[in-house]
Amino acid sequence: MMKHFLKETDFSREEAAEVFALARRLKLERGRHEKPLAGQTWAMIFAKSSTRTRVSFDVGIHELGGHPLFLGMNDIQLGRGETIGDTAQVLSRFVHGIVIRTYQQSDLDGLAAHGRVPVVNALTDFLHPCQIYTDAFTAAERWAGPTGDLIAALQGRKVAFLGDTGFNMANSWILGANLFGMKVSLGGPAGFEPGKEIRALAAQTGGSFHCTTDPFEAVAGADIVYTDAWASMGQEGEREARTRRMLPYQVTKKLFEAAKPDALFMHCLPAHAGEEVTQQVLDHPRCVIFDEAENRLHMQKAILATLVRPQT
Ligand code: CP
Ligand code: NVA
Repeated sequence: MMKHFLKETDFSREEAAEVFALARRLKLERGRHEKPLAGQTWAMIFAKSSTRTRVSFDVGIHELGGHPLFLGMNDIQLGRGETIGDTAQVLSRFVHGIVIRTYQQSDLDGLAAHGRVPVVNALTDFLHPCQIYTDAFTAAERWAGPTGDLIAALQGRKVAFLGDTGFNMANSWILGANLFGMKVSLGGPAGFEPGKEIRALAAQTGGSFHCTTDPFEAVAGADIVYTDAWASMGQEGEREARTRRMLPYQVTKKLFEAAKPDALFMHCLPAHAGEEVTQQVLDHPRCVIFDEAENRLHMQKAILATLVRPQT
């Protein structure tokens, strides 16, 4: 059966543990590891801006021996209304896999349903699974050390997510934390709670999460303090209104220090200093944002290498 990576739970916890172990090895052996994508071309469809995701997939596909083919949404007929189904069928005749960043999660489901190649979620409005796998890996490699069990290092750890608790990064933490055996507490304003789709998916996969409007309650006992932009891509027009509502959830030094004394600060980036996080926290010695950014490369290479392995 063909495997896709559309959401966090497309890998079981055991499979995720193997992906994490592979990411660690590929990171260590960068420049001299195997090339499982040799002779392959992977399409990269982007309907939104990107620095980290675009560059890390491009470099990662190349380092695995493959050819990355960047397709801006408006450069292909998909941007002019050609259907997802036809696009999937056509691309499947040319390429060996598709990485896609777009708005609707249902478009990814459509690509996977109509195509004949693996599809990887490079961010939708609903989820950003490559980011969450990377973030959990980034914490785990610190907590497990060079040889310890990465997934075991995450068991029982708590992540506090502050700010926009109703969009892709919060949703991804809900699915990811449960998959990795972590607890998640979401602190955000009323009206921005996780929506019914993610609640249904979390319930289906046996996941639970805690939601509060009190930012200090959210960070109490947290091992990771995490935030994201208050106005995500596509929400630029709501920026002022969102800023007013989310200001109490800004990650300040005081809020960060209300978490565990050795807690890590994480952010998927791009960050907006003075909005969702202060510059003082971005400069903090326990802020690991650039390790997260670097690890996108290693984690995504591990995900791609796993998807192209013959499936049992
Ligand atoms: N974190 C992340 O996905 O960054 P980009 O939008 O730059 O890809
Ligand atoms: N929530 C942000 C994440 C960017 C990586 C967005 O969707 O714009």
